[in-house]
Amino acid sequence: MVSKPAALDVEPAGSDYGQYDFIVVSNRLPVDRVTDDGEDTSWRRSPGGLVTALAPVMAKTDGAWIGWPGSADEVLDPFDHDDMRLVPIPLSQDDVELYYEGFSNATLWPLYHDVIAPPEFHRAWWECYKQVNQRFADATAKVAATGAVVWVQDYQLQLVPKLLREQRPDLKIGFFNHIPFPPLEIFAQLPWRRQVIEGLLGADLVGFQRPSDSSNFLRCVRRFSGHAIKSQHVNIKTETGTRICRAGAFPISIDVDQINELANRPDVIERARQIREELGNPKTVLLGVDRLDYTKGIGHRIKAYGELLEDERVTVEDAALIQVASPSRERVESYRLLREEIEASVGRINGTFDTLSNTAIRYLHHSYPKEEMVALYLAADVMLVTALRDGMNLVAKEYVASRTGVNGALVLSEFAGAADHLKQAILVNPHDIDGLKDAIMRAIHISPGEATRRMRTMRRQILQNDVEQWSQSFLRALQVDPAEELGEQP
Ligand code: G6P
Repeated sequence: MVSKPAALDVEPAGSDYGQYDFIVVSNRLPVDRVTDDGEDTSWRRSPGGLVTALAPVMAKTDGAWIGWPGSADEVLDPFDHDDMRLVPIPLSQDDVELYYEGFSNATLWPLYHDVIAPPEFHRAWWECYKQVNQRFADATAKVAATGAVVWVQDYQLQLVPKLLREQRPDLKIGFFNHIPFPPLEIFAQLPWRRQVIEGLLGADLVGFQRPSDSSNFLRCVRRFSGHAIKSQHVNIKTETGTRICRAGAFPISIDVDQINELANRPDVIERARQIREELGNPKTVLLGVDRLDYTKGIGHRIKAYGELLEDERVTVEDAALIQVASPSRERVESYRLLREEIEASVGRINGTFDTLSNTAIRYLHHSYPKEEMVALYLAADVMLVTALRDGMNLVAKEYVASRTGVNGALVLSEFAGAADHLKQAILVNPHDIDGLKDAIMRAIHISPGEATRRMRTMRRQILQNDVEQWSQSFLRALQVDPAEELGEQP
């Protein structure tokens, strides 16, 4: 089934043409490859909440998911998995370097995250981004039924709405940006800013995590396109009249039922007990869980913790910090440098403070299955989320959902979208190392009564707003007729 492509044209099987009423388009397909000992490969559903939220919609309608299977130069036929039709889009080695690692993750990702790392602008990357977006749009245009709903996901595919509408004006097109949308003054650096804005405006509805992302976008639309804006509506003149693109905030959440079920499972509870025991049953277990990404503020957190050890406000006997840093985008230079930096500081701190029986920071450069993650959440008295910029941060929400004992403390960066919803967390500015140190100490010494009061309110928020509600509210909004919403005559 796997072959090296001569050209990466996508030709869905004849039976897939014009077939699907609901289509999700994302850079990655929602499955991971599992390779057995032999030649055989199979697929397992990826752990993210997005697929959990959308799988039932797929099963109810005639649904398909379009995306890259995750390795270079691989051409696969469309296939079924878990009641979903998956349509793989191939990427060549060059596409991976220029479109994925380059334009998506070394131009857009740093630009959209407050230029924490300097974005690089290369014309060859942009050319490839356009070509790959075209390939995604072409495949979608081929498999969509008349009047189908298409939901495009995230910054890797911002040109798809326009490219798709050019071919298929009959479709309802939604777009959701999972990462922040930057302020005008930063977005303005992008040499192709106008084309990106026009790409997004091809959608009927453009969704963001926070209201501030949505208003940043509308300011950029005002500056870089000639379209008129009324409230959240952009009026776009076409050859046949006007159409409206709306923008709004739809904060994403997690699969609460799944977390809750795991947090109540006896083997997971037992594993949490074991984790604490393996750490020598310290008074306080602190936890950080992140993709190893410079936006997550892992270095700031480790610096603060190292200083607390130095000041003897915490000791390795009383407290243990577990830092899970899952491998990510390892061929991109800034990620390589970050890994070296983080591992050097963990090594320095451990070298200074470890004893024969205790370690200051347990650093784990791995990904873990959800069961193990929930066991870690259950084992942790204090969760540290210190992102310098984050669209939402679902780890913060998963920690809260896991705390079935209604205890534990969350230290949360005010620069994560989750801070809009988890106001009873101990909110921090991670750049303020003294403030961060004090916040960690507050979390360690929080009284049981205060911890419960805060956690109860946060749990209520999370339990009432899960990822299914998120997808439903977006898809409902996508169906609203904007003219009616504005109270205008059709
Ligand atoms: C973020 C992005 C996603 C992306 C994920 C993992 O959450 O919003 O679009 O899939 O990171 O990154 P990767 O580059 O491995 O897909």
